Amino acid sequence: MSTLSTAISPQAIYESEVSPVRDAFTKCPALLELFNSDADPILLELFLIHFNALGVSMTEPVDRWITQAGERCKQLGFVEVGNALCLHATHEAGHHEMMITDTKTLVKNWNERHAFQLDATEMLAQPLPNGVQKYVKLHEDVIASDTPFCQLAIELEIERLSVDVGPILIKQCLEILGSDVVKGLSFLEEHIAIDVSHTHFNQKQMNKFLEQHPDMVMPLADTAKKALEAYQLFLNDCVQLAKAKMATIK
Ligand SMILES: [Fe+2]
Ligand SMILES: [Fe+2]
Repeated sequence: MSTLSTAISPQAIYESEVSPVRDAFTKCPALLELFNSDADPILLELFLIHFNALGVSMTEPVDRWITQAGERCKQLGFVEVGNALCLHATHEAGHHEMMITDTKTLVKNWNERHAFQLDATEMLAQPLPNGVQKYVKLHEDVIASDTPFCQLAIELEIERLSVDVGPILIKQCLEILGSDVVKGLSFLEEHIAIDVSHTHFNQKQMNKFLEQHPDMVMPLADTAKKALEAYQLFLNDCVQLAKAKMATIK
């Protein structure tokens, strides 16, 4: 008599845990407001400037974060995922430079069309809001933890946002702001393209790791949720700061 296995795979458990949070992300108040067909162009443009200026602090440390998590994995005996993370780190070095360039281009473009002048240096030096701080702390906590391979869950979820949400944002910017403003979005445009292969890479590593360590699925899923929640908070921070700036203009 044959027995049918009813065990749920760790990959399926990960998906069932994280999918609702991914869905909630796409329906978060910040994105609903930005993606509305009647979205305010001033709000959208100021959002883009804050997104790039504040995003520098979430992007500049990425290769260091991934390398440190990878090295910790190797120390703890998770050699394969450690090597994969260290390899992936090299793909991420220097990406914050695009956000600095985009902040300057967007501000220059804004200043050419608006009486209220912005200062790119000031935008780049502004205090870090809650969402950015939470995102930074999540990485530092993962590196210091006994489950540093959870860095893989952060990479998988955040890089797939470039693939899932990035094209909708660019389309909306084209419709509401036009092609001149979109020229200042090199970080977003490049990540929509390169994070397709990065997401394939991350997914492959995640599947392999879960096959070898099915008992680690919950720490991975919990970290994935925390990463999406922190990033959602960051987008909300950018919208709120854009609104605060609008209030000073009027
Ligand atoms: Fe990147
Ligand atoms: Fe990437």
